[in-house]
Amino acid sequence: MAKSANPIWGDDWEDVRRLWILDPEVAHCNHGSYGAVPGPVMVAQNEFRARMAVHPQRWFYRECPGLVTVARGEVARFVGAGPEEVALVSNVSAGVSAVVQSLTLEPGAEIVSTNHAYGAVATALDRLCARTGATRVVAEVPVHSTNEEITAIFAEHCSDRTGLVVVDQVTSPTARRFPIEAVAAVGHRFGAAVLVDGAHAPGMLPLDVPKYGADFWVGNLHKWACTPAGTGALWVAPQWREQMLPLVVSWAELDGFPLSFERIGTDDLTAWLAAPITLDLLGSLGWDRVRAHNEALVCWAQATVAEALGVPSSELHHDTGLSMAIVPLPPGRADTREQAQALQEHMVALGVEMAVGAWDGHGAIRLSAHVYNRPADYERMAAGVRDFLSGSKPGDYQW
Ligand SMILES: Cc1ncc(COP(=O)(O)O)c(C=O)c1O
Repeated sequence: MAKSANPIWGDDWEDVRRLWILDPEVAHCNHGSYGAVPGPVMVAQNEFRARMAVHPQRWFYRECPGLVTVARGEVARFVGAGPEEVALVSNVSAGVSAVVQSLTLEPGAEIVSTNHAYGAVATALDRLCARTGATRVVAEVPVHSTNEEITAIFAEHCSDRTGLVVVDQVTSPTARRFPIEAVAAVGHRFGAAVLVDGAHAPGMLPLDVPKYGADFWVGNLHKWACTPAGTGALWVAPQWREQMLPLVVSWAELDGFPLSFERIGTDDLTAWLAAPITLDLLGSLGWDRVRAHNEALVCWAQATVAEALGVPSSELHHDTGLSMAIVPLPPGRADTREQAQALQEHMVALGVEMAVGAWDGHGAIRLSAHVYNRPADYERMAAGVRDFLSGSKPGDYQW
């Protein structure tokens, strides 16, 4: 038997890879940004679309609402919650926006978030500040902080003025896993509501959302659970459900949360309907196996790329359970948007898609690994980035 192109997954890797219709010429190493939909899921979603096109009245009036209820139940179960605790939303941006729109804060109140927060989420918080007269307090969390340090930093920035604490379950620019339960406890100690941005969590981590002790949790299934784009889930603690309003008015407004979130105008909700099919498909591979593979592969990739670039291992960090990891780049090579774009263009020409960006003034690559990836993807990346950087001294890689 030929040796597997991905020994971390095993001999059946070619079969698993074939589930994705991703361009085989490209090394797709940025799953974390947009996810990737398996071919059978796309087919299933198109079948729903065909039902919609063939008989719109039957679809919108009689079929779709019941199917959405079933999909919501399956998504809720996947995140560890009951069907009435979760609303389907199109993405984390929409879920966070609905939360901040439904909240009232006193003028002078403070919202505590961190310098790892996702840009659009930070913007949503700024909108809340503009509407209510609240102020955003950005806690600077050094990239290598321990869980205890992260929790302590949140506590240092909270006070009796804090109305809302926002914490990432997995951070986007830095691929860190934050101690959300401890941070939720800190927020509540100061009487603040706690919003967890779980954008990367579904599929990457086993979830038990109601146990986190938060007030709101929002996650994307279209990232690591590979559902079609437009599948987000918003969990709301019981005491907040009555005041939760969808961003856009709904025919089911008077029915309240979560129904009010899923009867919004005429829309294509087939991404939600395909979610249970996706969860079954990925589940058939074994979620534990998927997660263990992704973590092992991304750790291998991080070490491999770092070694090729001469990045000392002391500058590498990986949090348990994550399918993403960071490799810092030498100063001056990806610290600005223009530099990062130049590196990205160089890599696209070599057939490598990857996330490059600057955080806190330091350029870095964010590696992602899913089951369709194989070690050769990152070897290609390592060689390409090394060529791009050649001429630059290894320098000081510190974050
Ligand atoms: C931490 C985090 N929050 C929120 C989002 C926004 O997700 P979406 O673009 O699906 O709204 C992202 C997207 O990458 C993210 O990484």
